[in-house]
Amino acid sequence: MAKLQKFFRISSQPASDKPRAGHSSGHSRRQTRLSTVMCLLCICAGVSGAAPQRKPRPVQPATATRIDYSRFLHATKQHQEACNTCHQAPSSNWKTARAFPDISDYPDHIACVRCHRGQFFKGAQPPICANCHTRVSPRDGVRFAFRNPARARQFTVEFPHDKHQDVIAAWRTSPTVIARNQVVRRTFAHALQTRTDYNNCTICHAPNREPSSPPLAGWTDQYVPGLDTFRTAPATHAECFNCHWKGPQPAKENCGGCHKAATPYVPETTPKRISMKFRHEGGGPKQIHLAECTTCHINITKAASIRGLKPDVPITGCTECHNKSGLREDLNKELAAIDKDKDFVCSYCHLSDVGKRNAPSGHYLVAERTPLQPKDLK
Ligand code: HEC
Ligand code: HEC
Ligand code: HEC
Ligand code: HEC
Ligand code: HEC
Ligand code: HEC
Ligand code: HEC
Ligand code: HEC
Ligand code: HEC
Repeated sequence: MAKLQKFFRISSQPASDKPRAGHSSGHSRRQTRLSTVMCLLCICAGVSGAAPQRKPRPVQPATATRIDYSRFLHATKQHQEACNTCHQAPSSNWKTARAFPDISDYPDHIACVRCHRGQFFKGAQPPICANCHTRVSPRDGVRFAFRNPARARQFTVEFPHDKHQDVIAAWRTSPTVIARNQVVRRTFAHALQTRTDYNNCTICHAPNREPSSPPLAGWTDQYVPGLDTFRTAPATHAECFNCHWKGPQPAKENCGGCHKAATPYVPETTPKRISMKFRHEGGGPKQIHLAECTTCHINITKAASIRGLKPDVPITGCTECHNKSGLREDLNKELAAIDKDKDFVCSYCHLSDVGKRNAPSGHYLVAERTPLQPKDLK
């Protein structure tokens, strides 16, 4: 009975919100109440079949404006109250779901019912339940993983690398650091990796150990990047909440400090790259590419945002080894090949999507060549 009480607790709240047009679709409050009671009856009965038969209602015309109550959008105006009006931090299930206090679950019913009474207590299979539950049933509380990997993302993440350069380095050896006169303490312990860390970037960007799944359009040139190619990026809060739980802003409930609203999108399965053939753990048998990250990533540590970093790794980070006369001349060879054949596609570092385009002036500069004139490229 305890489970049902949750429903009663919510449904017996005074209906202080005026029934809004659209939600009650013209029903009087009394009728809304009635259907609430009827739905509660079906919840009590546990089986939808045992629910009392309802009078058939006129079916809503299927217009283009019909609202899909199984797809929650943050962009809807009424969904834009403070993030913590819906999201609790930590979620009540965190101890079973995670190794650290986290937002590991969906908002509770109470976050929705005050506005969505009409949708919650409508019929035996209210579509709104499917935002969170795998099965729509009054007895089954099982929910999707939070976040649901099958759903389009509604936020991108923001991480100012510049603000973290010093704090992260200091914090690895001590439980407290001072940043801008602010003492930052570890708010809970979370085991970090202990492998060799270049500038501590590896805390968040480990070597990738999962085979990449092909992009929707398939692999360009059928080139499948190996396990030694990519570096990962944080996919959970594990790398942030050590400091940002109760510590510096954005703290746990300030979701919007890190998550920036975006047009819903399907995340890329593989990182977008200019030099797809560059392998972080490659560079011959000596794996010479495994080096201090900032020798190549010269811009990121100064970057206040991860957006618009173009290019983060300039070709000057490669030419010391790949374009020295007498040693390797990978770039020179390709530039020379273009001189002979305007349709030559550069493929040492790039795939054809980039290698068939005109090389940027920086490439000619490091190779000490005069850039081709537009007329030469005809
Ligand atoms: C009206 C309630 C409500 C408010 C307010 C709200 N959320 Fe959500 N949020 C939800 C629900 C419901 C889901 C699950 C949606 C889904 O699975 O598609 C969710 C999912 C998410 C997710 C995971 C899905 C994704 O797109 O990555 C993030 C991140 C998130 N919310 C961040 C925020 C931020 C940031 C704010 C404040 C700016 C916020 N939420 C405000 C209800 C809310
Ligand atoms: C402050 C009132 C309010 C709260 C709280 C609220 N909603 Fe809504 N919701 C609305 C309004 C208004 C609409 C627009 C459509 C309508 O009038 O029904 C809407 C629309 C929706 C839709 C249709 C798609 C969309 O996002 O526009 C879904 C799904 C939905 N809400 C789910 C939820 C869930 C789940 C919660 C709780 C986590 C929630 N809502 C909390 C007011 C609210
Ligand atoms: C915004 C997400 C969301 C929506 C929408 C939602 N639920 Fe839930 N539901 C939850 C969460 C979170 C819990 C766990 C609450 C807790 O244990 O604190 C839960 C718990 C339950 C439980 C188990 C109760 C218990 O005490 O274990 C049932 C049954 C349930 N929901 C049914 C429904 C039905 C039926 C609907 C649609 C009318 C619905 N839920 C809509 C998030 C949601
Ligand atoms: C505390 C975690 C953390 C640390 C430490 C960190 N990063 Fe990041 N980095 C991130 C996050 C989060 C992103 C964004 C990933 C995303 O967009 O999903 C990112 C993105 C990047 C990107 C991709 C930028 C792009 O164009 O999308 C590069 C390159 C990068 N980091 C390099 C570095 C280097 C080099 C260091 C060390 C100097 C470093 N990072 C340290 C968290 C971190
Ligand atoms: C020898 C140069 C070089 C070094 C050293 C290097 N990187 Fe990179 N990194 C690159 C290149 C090139 C790219 C791809 C840029 C592009 O093509 O858009 C890249 C991309 C990335 C990305 C984006 C995801 C991906 O793999 O495409 C991350 C994150 C990253 N590097 C982190 C690191 C970290 C952490 C280190 C140190 C352990 C490091 N890099 C060392 C050259 C380097
Ligand atoms: C070692 C502790 C530590 C870790 C781990 C950490 N941060 Fe921070 N972060 C800080 C400190 C301290 C500041 C404030 C720096 C300042 O103001 O100069 C900060 C600032 C920020 C800001 C900028 C706030 C503003 O007002 O400009 C954002 C956004 C942020 N962190 C996101 C993240 C994300 C996302 C992660 C995880 C990928 C993360 N941080 C991991 C300590 C940390
Ligand atoms: C200090 C920065 C920060 C704050 C504050 C923050 N997040 Fe996140 N969140 C991240 C980063 C970084 C990721 C991993 C990158 C990604 O996948 O978007 C993430 C991932 C998530 C995920 C997917 C996690 C998983 O394990 O699959 C959800 C859901 C989420 N955040 C929701 C929230 C909500 C809701 C809040 C507020 C209660 C919040 N976040 C507060 C930085 C933050
Ligand atoms: C040693 C590796 C290497 C070789 C060889 C090379 N490139 Fe690049 N290329 C890079 C790197 C690194 C960048 C990104 C940084 C920059 O623009 O300096 C880049 C950038 C580019 C871009 C700009 C892509 C964008 O979207 O910004 C084009 C186009 C390009 N190269 C074409 C070529 C052509 C054509 C050749 C053959 C003549 C060539 N590259 C040979 C490493 C290489
Ligand atoms: C410190 C020297 C050094 C630097 C810097 C360097 N490379 Fe390399 N790279 C090598 C060596 C050595 C090899 C192995 C060559 C061979 O076996 O033919 C290699 C191989 C490669 C290959 C062939 C695939 C592989 O990994 O074996 C590509 C593509 C490549 N490098 C791209 C780049 C790009 C792009 C940059 C700049 C972002 C870069 N390299 C910077 C030394 C370097």
